[in-house]
Amino acid sequence: MLKIAVMVSGGGTNLQALIDAQNNGVLSSGRVIHVISSCEDAYALARAKNAGIPSTVAKNESEIISVLETVKPDMIILAGYMKILTKEFLDRVKVPIVNIHPSLIPSFCGKGFYGLKVHEAVLKSGVKVTGATVHFVNEIPDGGEIIAQKAIDILPNDTPEVLQRRVMENCEWVILPRAVETVCRKIEPKIFPHPQKYAGRGIITGMSPSGGKVLAYFIMGRSVSSKARIFERSGDNLIIKLTRDDKNFDPSLILYSPLRIIGGNIIITNGDQTDTIYDSLKNGGTFEEALRTREYEPDAPHYTPRISAIMTPSGHKQSILKRAGKYFYEYEYTPGKGRFIHTYDHDVMPGGVLPSFEGEPREVNIPDDMNHFAESLWRELGEDYRVALYVRYYDGEKYRDKLYNTQTA
Ligand code: GAR
Repeated sequence: MLKIAVMVSGGGTNLQALIDAQNNGVLSSGRVIHVISSCEDAYALARAKNAGIPSTVAKNESEIISVLETVKPDMIILAGYMKILTKEFLDRVKVPIVNIHPSLIPSFCGKGFYGLKVHEAVLKSGVKVTGATVHFVNEIPDGGEIIAQKAIDILPNDTPEVLQRRVMENCEWVILPRAVETVCRKIEPKIFPHPQKYAGRGIITGMSPSGGKVLAYFIMGRSVSSKARIFERSGDNLIIKLTRDDKNFDPSLILYSPLRIIGGNIIITNGDQTDTIYDSLKNGGTFEEALRTREYEPDAPHYTPRISAIMTPSGHKQSILKRAGKYFYEYEYTPGKGRFIHTYDHDVMPGGVLPSFEGEPREVNIPDDMNHFAESLWRELGEDYRVALYVRYYDGEKYRDKLYNTQTA
């Protein structure tokens, strides 16, 4: 979840649109964490206070910089900010800055075009449409790359005030929250370091910033039978089912329990080694002992790795059994961090062979917001190959979970 600072000068209706969008889910990848106002009597400050968002009045750029150094936003939004920022300021601020402007750029913009003045000029010129633009800020006033625009017709009874209100309601408050969500999704750190089309199966284990334990398991598929699978909850465990009759596959590689619980431990794997680990623990054995009796899958020519994890009350372990060897990794829980392992490394497939995951499970960030974590992971898996995803956040026995299937039962 990205941290957003909003800069305002007046009424703050665009700030309000962002706050409302957070509450109704239109803006879910970022949160307004601070409001900076250029005037102490801006009504925007009351809106921030009502929403429980801290604010500061900062009248010059050096005051603004010191606020930004403290709150460290990932992104800044100018929502009715009436001053032009200097090149020195823009050079110092390393995060994207987005502005909303009440006209269709490149018309009626730049120095001198702000607030009501824009609408006066629009009416005077006799143009038949106007609107609003969301754009990135650069050293040219209203000159940065355009992110979104929306137009409306000018009506015979429009006065500058009426037109301003109509542009706000119909254009600004609509496109600003959506554009901010789009930018957040683009700049948010990704679970996969490089865009990857086909990762196979994947496991994430770790901890949320506030200390809850977190796990995720997904399957992607290319073949018809692989794509016909769905996850289903079975008590506190997870099972995989087929949505169609199919005899052309080895059921042990496709239908298994990806998640089983024994004592205070959760086992997550991409195959029937879940049961091998379960039985071993039941008989006093260990995660490692169980997996040493197993090897990679017999699906030549890929020889898909078997990936497994166990979450115990005091730490989490991951393992990968592949042709190159059997590997085990052990981690302590670190708030806000997880480890991510998946079966295939990248989608270049010389001779059609899928390359096995290389190296240590990667460190990934885990947020407190389960829905956001699950949604972003599901989105990153991409529409072509994702099949199912299961995410669980838990604290002792209590848990919340989220399940996605592309197929219906
Ligand atoms: C809005 O129309 C915004 O687009 C405009 O000022 C108004 C502020 O309203 N911004 C500019 O003119 C920037 N050049 P608000 O304070 O109610 O959001």
